[in-house]
Amino acid sequence: MSESDILLDIRSLELRYGAAVAVRDISLSVKRGQLVAVIGNNGAGKSSMVRGATGLVRPSGGQVLFKGEDTTRLSANKKVARGLVMVPEGRLLFPDQSVEDNLILGAYAHGGLKSERSKATLEKVLGLFPRLKERLPQQAGSMSGGEQQMLAIARGLMAEPELLIIDELSLGLAPKIVDQLMRVLADLNAAGLTILLVEQLASYALAIADHAYVIANGRVARHGPSAELARDPEVMEAFLGKKKKAAA
Ligand SMILES: Nc1ncnc2c1ncn2[C@@H]1O[C@H](COP(=O)(O)OP(=O)(O)OP(=O)(O)O)[C@@H](O)[C@H]1O
Ligand SMILES: [Mg+2]
Repeated sequence: MSESDILLDIRSLELRYGAAVAVRDISLSVKRGQLVAVIGNNGAGKSSMVRGATGLVRPSGGQVLFKGEDTTRLSANKKVARGLVMVPEGRLLFPDQSVEDNLILGAYAHGGLKSERSKATLEKVLGLFPRLKERLPQQAGSMSGGEQQMLAIARGLMAEPELLIIDELSLGLAPKIVDQLMRVLADLNAAGLTILLVEQLASYALAIADHAYVIANGRVARHGPSAELARDPEVMEAFLGKKKKAAA
């Protein structure tokens, strides 16, 4: 693969909250078409890495290249307009607003629903999520957790991502629902969408990802093909707090 196949290239990222260092040194890359997982325990620095990559928090060191361009100092809005889109941890929907309004907000970078382009995108997204189509007028906050996560993904798709970053897909959801949503992501990836999946439930993420990074203490502890990491007992025990059996 050539350099131009790399969509996201994070180089030696460092990020602080005041004096506290949350990301010490993270380098990570995502190639076009890949589904890459980022796994790691509570407080490892995964969400902070995402905030640094998407421009929500200004990194204190390192670089974030997107499609070859140095975007380290670009605002989150500008990055969204370039195709770097995130589904945030905890979903952050507008619970009192309708499903439709939440979706429209996702198209903000492309002129909301005023543009013909956004209307076409909405039709496409609703085709992928018929369940949301049935519920367009419903208040987002009145839906089940799984439906809300679906809406958060659909809202992200409304921004026409070239790379979709999803932070903690599984948060607060039952295993069966997590399975269903993981399948949705695998299907989106098979249809051509590049995805960076940040997930505490390592085994779910490793099952659908091509490549994975294990984050511990603000650094990359390991990375490699997902299947290899899933078989590596040290990864499962030392970094993810799982027993050997769980890795089998
Ligand atoms: N807004 C903030 N202000 C100060 N410290 C923060 C803030 N957000 C995170 N931290 C700290 O940064 C470190 C990394 O946290 P982060 O949320 O990035 O981890 P994480 O890997 O996403 O964890 P989780 O799996 O719980 O989502 C932690 O020590 C956390 O307490
Ligand atoms: Mg997090």
